[in-house]
Amino acid sequence: MNDTTSREKLNKLRNDFPALHQLVRGRPLVYLDNAATTHKPRAVIDTLVQFYSMDNSNIHRGVHYLSEKATFAYEKARGQVKRLLHAKSEQEIVFTRGATEAINLVAKTFGDMRVKEGDEILISAMEHHSNIVPWQMLCEKKGARLKVIPMNDRGELLLDEYEKLLTEKTKIVSIVWISNSLGTRNPISEMIKMAHEKGIPFLVDAAQAVAHEPIDVTKFDCDFLVFSGHKSYGPTGVGVLYGKSKLLEEMPPWQGGGDMIKSVTFEKTLFADIPYKFEAGTPNIAGGIGLGASLEYLESIGWDWIMQHEKSLLAHGTRLLTEIAGLKLIGTAANKAGVLSFVMDGIHPHDIGTILDRHGIAIRTGHHCTQPVMQRMGVPATARASIALYNMPEELDVLAETLKVVKKVFER
Ligand code: ALA
Repeated sequence: MNDTTSREKLNKLRNDFPALHQLVRGRPLVYLDNAATTHKPRAVIDTLVQFYSMDNSNIHRGVHYLSEKATFAYEKARGQVKRLLHAKSEQEIVFTRGATEAINLVAKTFGDMRVKEGDEILISAMEHHSNIVPWQMLCEKKGARLKVIPMNDRGELLLDEYEKLLTEKTKIVSIVWISNSLGTRNPISEMIKMAHEKGIPFLVDAAQAVAHEPIDVTKFDCDFLVFSGHKSYGPTGVGVLYGKSKLLEEMPPWQGGGDMIKSVTFEKTLFADIPYKFEAGTPNIAGGIGLGASLEYLESIGWDWIMQHEKSLLAHGTRLLTEIAGLKLIGTAANKAGVLSFVMDGIHPHDIGTILDRHGIAIRTGHHCTQPVMQRMGVPATARASIALYNMPEELDVLAETLKVVKKVFER
């Protein structure tokens, strides 16, 4: 696709996102907080409106028309997730509230089943709190140890250290594919292979990856993979746990209630087959269906275009920010996704964020739920601009120009 047709495509797809076309504090919104959550295309919004205004019904329980319609749509969404991930069957797709809940589910079931006193769980120095705390809680309960793969100053994991940390005590490796606070794209395929060579199961946290590149769990051969809907143009409150069926079958349920059973008496309950065994209670039905719509939307845009566009935005943004004296990028890995985390001499990131907001620019400031990353990089917080498929190079120009204004404010 040449530059003109690519630009036409961008202009056209921006019209799919109503939220992008608003004034914020009197200026056109520049939304660069996509790692926190993306905006939703009309296709997703319309799906939610259609569900709540017409099709609303509980699933898996009713014999009436609307219940059957809702069940069909929800299970169709499960099929869409299966297709996105290239999973072998719908049984391997468990709907959760989000990536966080999916990791907690694995820690509380698989972890509880496999981890014993003296065992180790291996994570990395760049994990989100959601991939630290559930494992810490498990270690606490079991008397196990949490081990951490270190990273260098650019925010790249040290694979030789990783190799050494994989021992017979390691019961699971749980690693983020794309870091939300540094943008590092970890060599996840290689890392999975290294763990599997020693027979150790591997969980991929794909929360920041799903919207940005294609995923094939059969190629990865990962044992678990998690993601959230809201970072991939879908609704909040819905996410996915992919697990190899053999492991899911082995794992006990984690919450009891309706819809996860085959039969209940006061003496004994027989649990439903996977994935329903892990889906107690009425789920986020609209959320699941909306997630399906967001995946359909992503497919309609096409991975080649998305990856090419975001890559060129990242290169453009990196160039612009690097030219600003006194600004330091935090996270300069050779292999990065569209995250620009930075600090500026003598200016607190919250002040950067507040002044940018006055100009209609939305970024996130703080520790990004990765406090250990901040400690490792020796900063209390960063300002973070994060890119989505609908961003324009001009928005990064506005960001860079406004950062120069921020500098001037503090030079006075
Ligand atoms: N984990 C999300 C972020 O990176 C919320 O902002």
